[in-house]
Amino acid sequence: MSYESDLALRLVPYVAGEQPKNVKLIKLNTNENPYPPSPKVAEAIAAVPKDALRLYPDMDATALCAAIAKVNGVSPDMVFCGNGSDEVLAFAFAAFFAGKKLVAPDVTYSFYPVYASLFGVEYETVPLTAKFEVDVAGLMQGCPIALANPNAPTGMLLKSPEVRRLAEHTRDNDAVLLVDEAYAAFSPENALPLLSEFENVLITRTFSKSHALAGMRVGYAIGSPRLISALKRIRDSFNSYPLDRLAQAAAEAAILDTEYTAKTVRKVCEARDRCRAFLIGSGIACLKSATNFLFVKADPVDAAPVQQKLREEGILVRHFKADRLKAWLRVTVGTAEDMEIVTEKLLEYCRSV
Ligand SMILES: Cc1ncc(COP(=O)(O)O)c(C=O)c1O
Repeated sequence: MSYESDLALRLVPYVAGEQPKNVKLIKLNTNENPYPPSPKVAEAIAAVPKDALRLYPDMDATALCAAIAKVNGVSPDMVFCGNGSDEVLAFAFAAFFAGKKLVAPDVTYSFYPVYASLFGVEYETVPLTAKFEVDVAGLMQGCPIALANPNAPTGMLLKSPEVRRLAEHTRDNDAVLLVDEAYAAFSPENALPLLSEFENVLITRTFSKSHALAGMRVGYAIGSPRLISALKRIRDSFNSYPLDRLAQAAAEAAILDTEYTAKTVRKVCEARDRCRAFLIGSGIACLKSATNFLFVKADPVDAAPVQQKLREEGILVRHFKADRLKAWLRVTVGTAEDMEIVTEKLLEYCRSV
């Protein structure tokens, strides 16, 4: 006998990037936005009647879903909101993958195997190619499929015709294709155009990156009304009110301020491409990124010492210990000023490969 369930003893939890107390650090380890959220967010939070906080929030986040639907050109019954896209992903695993064998690339968002083990999903991985590209034919050996696109931590984009092949394959096998688009705003392409044709495709997105609201915890899914109702069934079996009133108001204001988002996203993409050009020009391998981070080959064998040296200089970046990833560092794109400093340090510490 033990106090803990077998499940609690067996789980190997997701390990999030460090959240330091020292605010002087240049924090480039968890892909947050270096700019503040839209000024309209603070106004929207201030406008929430404080007396309303004694009442439970709108469980369906109706106004927020309508705003997301409007900006993405879909109908509101195709939108579901949750407490960060991590929660939306968890609900999706429970709704569409529990009891099935899920296929995913070997290098991808490391929460997927954790949710698989939490929700009784058999998890099969297909290696990325030597160039870190998704092996589409390999993934099509099974279904359902989970695909982070652009992928993390590589930052690489799988192009639309290939995503379409996965949508067709899963549809033909009565299974769901989950496309995790946490970084879609930084990418030239996304899977939205597939939704009018494929009832089986679910896209998840987040306000944590492009909308600078990681601290508010808001994520959403877009998909057919059938998939959205399945997510609601799971939500209502777990926590009917995942988004509080302040988060709903903040996210609605953020998504409607498309001009501000476009401006900050453009600045991040410019800083990203400039940094990558410098690294590549100096012979340091750096994958082409469609996200707000760069995956940099910092050492021929193990980049942990480079991560440590950067840390000593007050710069936090992410290192993954897995064999295939350990030579690389994932560097979130910060402000232009941050990136000047980081680029200089990377050029100094990375060994050309
Ligand atoms: C690929 C991917 N999906 C989902 C998430 C979760 O985002 P959040 O829970 O902040 O919405 C992240 C966060 O880093 C991510 O990299």
